[in-house]
Amino acid sequence: MEIIRTVKRLEEALGNARSEGLSIGLVPTMGALHAGHKSLVDCARAQNDVVVVSVFVNPTQFNNAADLATYPRTEVADEALLDASGVDYMFLPSVEEVYPQPDTRVFNLGPVAEVMEGPMRPGHFNGVCQIVSKLFGMVKPHRAYFGEKDFQQIAVIRRMVELEGFEVEIVDCPIVREADGLALSSRNVRLTPEGRQVAPGIHRVLAESVRLKENGMNPGEVEDEVVRQINSLPGLTTEYFSIVDAITMQPLAAWESAGAAGAVGCVTVYCGDVRLIDNIRY
Ligand code: PAF
Repeated sequence: MEIIRTVKRLEEALGNARSEGLSIGLVPTMGALHAGHKSLVDCARAQNDVVVVSVFVNPTQFNNAADLATYPRTEVADEALLDASGVDYMFLPSVEEVYPQPDTRVFNLGPVAEVMEGPMRPGHFNGVCQIVSKLFGMVKPHRAYFGEKDFQQIAVIRRMVELEGFEVEIVDCPIVREADGLALSSRNVRLTPEGRQVAPGIHRVLAESVRLKENGMNPGEVEDEVVRQINSLPGLTTEYFSIVDAITMQPLAAWESAGAAGAVGCVTVYCGDVRLIDNIRY
């Protein structure tokens, strides 16, 4: 595996691969890699000739300075995981390399970005689109891989791809969980021992909520019950739980209003000061 720190070297290496007719898969990450990232890398490895993994903690997507400052950074372990996974190029640029000038672009993402994480983290999705569009421009991947834990992020990236006309296939990969159900996240390392014990309750409540639907509750009633149950667990506070159409991200008043991709319930929960997100399909 070659570690690349400059856009010039990245474009040179990938230009050669492209001119040989090889397919390129990109896995964008912010590092602190875990088995969830590894599943994306494995999928990219199986589907492409050349695999690039970017590791870049993107400052423009953090709307909270403390969150950026405390975001875990584990470069040496990340390198070992990627090398062992058969990655060809680990792209590890500096902030100056990615943003030689401030990125002032504003993406007109529309309704998909106006709910849930949109209002809760103003500017977050615009920052995600800034970095992902830059990476797509640099790598020109045939396919790019994203985890379904960040369900709304995938919908937003699909919208950005449509707006910008990128010719890239967005591949979404299932959530990877700990044995007790907790969705893998780079933020899990910041949980206290007590927080780590209680956090799997989020998935348990979500999984059981599928039965509430089967028993005849409408989406609004399921939302209320899920919030009540999560908030009754010690140390957990729900920021939002919203049942939405799996493509448009718009809230559903009735199950029948969901389109062909069905309904998904998206939750954000504070466990102490750690913000955890998860979701469940209905
Ligand atoms: O999901 C993430 O880790 C980030 O939002 C991404 C897509 C790598 C962009 O920085």
